[in-house]
Amino acid sequence: MSDNTPNAQQKSGAVQTTGHAWDGDLQEYNNPLPRWWLWCFYGTVAFSVLYWFIYPSWPVGQTWLKGFHTVSYTTVDKAGQEQEREHRWNTRALLLGDLGDAARDPQRKAMLAKVEAASYDQIVKDPKMMEFVRSVGKGLFGDNCAACHGRGGQGVVGMYPNLTDDDWLWGGSMDKIHETLVQGRNGFMPAFGQVLKPDQLDDVAEYVLTLSNEAQPGEASERGKAIFHGQTGGCYYCHGADAKGVPSQGAANLTDKIWAIADVPTQKTLQDKKAVLKTFIASGVNNTRVMPAWKGRLKDDDIKLLAVYVHQLGGAK
Ligand code: HEC
Ligand code: HEC
Repeated sequence: MSDNTPNAQQKSGAVQTTGHAWDGDLQEYNNPLPRWWLWCFYGTVAFSVLYWFIYPSWPVGQTWLKGFHTVSYTTVDKAGQEQEREHRWNTRALLLGDLGDAARDPQRKAMLAKVEAASYDQIVKDPKMMEFVRSVGKGLFGDNCAACHGRGGQGVVGMYPNLTDDDWLWGGSMDKIHETLVQGRNGFMPAFGQVLKPDQLDDVAEYVLTLSNEAQPGEASERGKAIFHGQTGGCYYCHGADAKGVPSQGAANLTDKIWAIADVPTQKTLQDKKAVLKTFIASGVNNTRVMPAWKGRLKDDDIKLLAVYVHQLGGAK
């Protein structure tokens, strides 16, 4: 202890210092680490060494320390025989184990068989089966459909239809949805840009807006109505004489406020809404919007499950 440390504690000898001094009298205490802290530290060191032996750890040359811990799982070989396998612990073996357990889970298997055998009506009326459909369907939808239709099935205006609004291009019955999934869909609407003159496009767009009460009927919409329901446009041929859509054509219902393709709702003024519609009618819909066919890509049971899942997304009416 040096002379230039006039500290009461030090004078009594209670605390040691490291012996360094800065700025004349600034010193550093030399307290021992608390015992509990030290033991924790030794404990973590021992734990890490133990861990290296149990789990895969350090690289060694071309390979690595594989650890003693093993995972056993069952695989099914090409002949359909189940084979018990054991592998040094890794996340892949762990996943294979979990997948095998899920597939062999007797409750799940029984439920799947029940859903397979049941009619749509029976499934919808059975809360247990519906719960199963919702949980399994969510996974299937996330893996196969969400990339286009969105996680929740909300879709993207102009590209992928919203599946949650109970408004369907191709029909919303369970059978029709099933048909959509099995064979895919590819709606076609001709481009009217060359067929109709700009003012005719204006008029027909105006008429379409009156169908959903976005615009008030007037002279322009009357002219548009004649185009829509006559040979000039022939729109009624696909959209129906009542403009409520023809599901066998995938032609949209134009009398509701739900827009699947033409982005009308986000336009603020009537002028903008009309402009969006005009552009849409002029260019039509070609092979840009295609719903792939899932037959052969998904198992039949999975397609059935997804049809029920999508049906209930839309409110199940
Ligand atoms: C590559 C993008 C894409 C994927 C993946 C996709 N879809 Fe579609 N889906 C579309 C498009 C585009 C349409 C609209 C087709 C049309 O109207 O011409 C559509 C239409 C539908 C319809 C009809 C909607 C209606 O209003 O009638 C249903 C139901 C549907 N999809 C369900 C699914 C399900 C379930 C999956 C997963 C198995 C799936 N889709 C995967 C692009 C996709
Ligand atoms: C050959 C059949 C066919 C004809 C003719 C046709 N449409 Fe369509 N129309 C469709 C189909 C199919 C869709 C939906 C496209 C899809 O699902 O990819 C559609 C979609 C639309 C939409 C978008 C609706 C929405 O919800 O976003 C409008 C608007 C529309 N048509 C207006 C017209 C007008 C106006 C005419 C006449 C000038 C016309 N269509 C003629 C088949 C047709």
